[in-house]
Amino acid sequence: MPQALAAAEEAARTPHSHAGDQTGWRFYRAGQQPSWADPARRDEVCADLSGRPVLTRLPDLLRLRRELAGVAAGDSHVLQAGDCAEDFAECTPEHAARKEEALARLAGVIAAPTGLPVVRIGRLAGQFAKPRSAATEDVNGRQLPAFRGHIVNSEAPDPASRRHDPDRMLRAYRAAKAVADALDGRHARNPADGTRTWISHEALVMDYETALVRFDESAGGWFLGSTHLPWIGERTRHSMGAHVRLLADVMNPVACKVSGKVQVRDLLDVVERLDPGREPGRLTLIARFGKDDVRTLLPPLAQAVKNAGHPVVWLCDPMHGNTYKASNGLKTRRLDDICDEIRGFVSALRGVGVRPGGLHLETAAEDVTECVGADVPDEAALTARYTSLCDPRLSPVQAGLAVDTFVSAL
Ligand code: PEP
Ligand code: CO
Repeated sequence: MPQALAAAEEAARTPHSHAGDQTGWRFYRAGQQPSWADPARRDEVCADLSGRPVLTRLPDLLRLRRELAGVAAGDSHVLQAGDCAEDFAECTPEHAARKEEALARLAGVIAAPTGLPVVRIGRLAGQFAKPRSAATEDVNGRQLPAFRGHIVNSEAPDPASRRHDPDRMLRAYRAAKAVADALDGRHARNPADGTRTWISHEALVMDYETALVRFDESAGGWFLGSTHLPWIGERTRHSMGAHVRLLADVMNPVACKVSGKVQVRDLLDVVERLDPGREPGRLTLIARFGKDDVRTLLPPLAQAVKNAGHPVVWLCDPMHGNTYKASNGLKTRRLDDICDEIRGFVSALRGVGVRPGGLHLETAAEDVTECVGADVPDEAALTARYTSLCDPRLSPVQAGLAVDTFVSAL
C-alpha cells in the first residue's frame, strides 16, 4: 500500500498533526486491537463517543503533571493501584468510594513514615481493556477467544459472550463516567482534603481512546479526555506503534511499562517520543521486571534514561513480572516475590542515583484471596474469594505489607 506508507511518512514528519483524527493512527501498527464483530456499528459508536463530554479537564491534567514533577524532584511519592481489569458491575458510586478509601489508606502507609505527600492514582474509571499474549484461552478444556476486558467482551465462558462487541465501548464510557463523577463528587464535598484520586488506565483500544481526544483552543493542543494518566502497556510500547504515537500527541501526563525485554536503544526511542521536551511530570516509567531481573536489568536502563536528560518518575510494578500458575490452575503471585522485587527496585535505582518514585499495584478493596502470603497462607486458600476478572490482586493486608516494604527500603 504505497499510498498508506506515504501518508504515514508524511504524518511522521509533521508531529501533532493527527491526534484526535480518528483515522490517522491507523497508519501505524496498533497491536492488541479488537476484531469487532460489526465494523459498521463500531464506526457509529466512535462517532457517538466523539460527541460526548469527556471525563477529564485540561487544568486537572496540568495539575497532575505538576504533582508528578514534584515526585520527580523528590518532594512526594506516587501510589498507583487498583484492579487489573475493572468490572462493569462494580462501577457504582459505592464501589468507587470503597476503592478510593482503600487507596487513601495505602497512601497513608507511605505518607506517615516519610512525612511526604502521596499522589494517589487509581487504576479505575476506564481500566477495562486487557492485552493478551494469546488470541484464545483454554476454559475448562474448551478453546475460546480470550477475554479482553469488559470494553471488548465478557468473561462468560461461551463463544457468544466472547465476541468483540463495539457497543461495549459505550458501556465502558458510561461505567467510567459513573466512577469519575462519583470521585469528582466526593472531592467537591471534601475540598479541604486537598488531595484527590486521579484516574488512570492502559490506553489500549484505539477506537475508544481516539474518540475521546479533544482539542483545547486556549492551549492550542490535544488532550486525552478518557483519563488523567493513560499508560502504554508492555505489549504495545513500540516507538513507531500507534499507542506511542497517540500518547506522544496529547498534553496529559503519560506513563509506559518497561521490562527487561526492552533494549536500551528502543527505550530511549520511546522516551524521546513521549518526552521530547524533557519536562518533569510528563513521563512516568513503570518498571515490571520480575524479582530475578530487576537488580541487574533495571540499572542500565534507568542510567540511560537519566543520561539522556529525561526527568522521569520511576514506579515499581512488582506484580506483572511475578505471575505464575498455582497447582490448582489459578493465576497467582507470591507476596514474598512482590516484596523482593520492591526491594530490588529501590536498590537498583539507588545504585544509579535515581529516585524511586513509588508503587504501581494490583489491589482489591475487599479481602480477596488471589495472591499467596500473609492472610492467604497457601495455594489451597486461593479458592475462597478469588474474584478477579484477570490478574490476581493483593488483599488490603497484603497491599499494606507491600507498601511497608517500599517505605522500609527507602
Ligand atoms: C497490567 O498492568 O494489567 C498489564 C497488562 O501490564 P503489562 O502491560 O505490564 O503486562
Ligand atoms: Co494485570
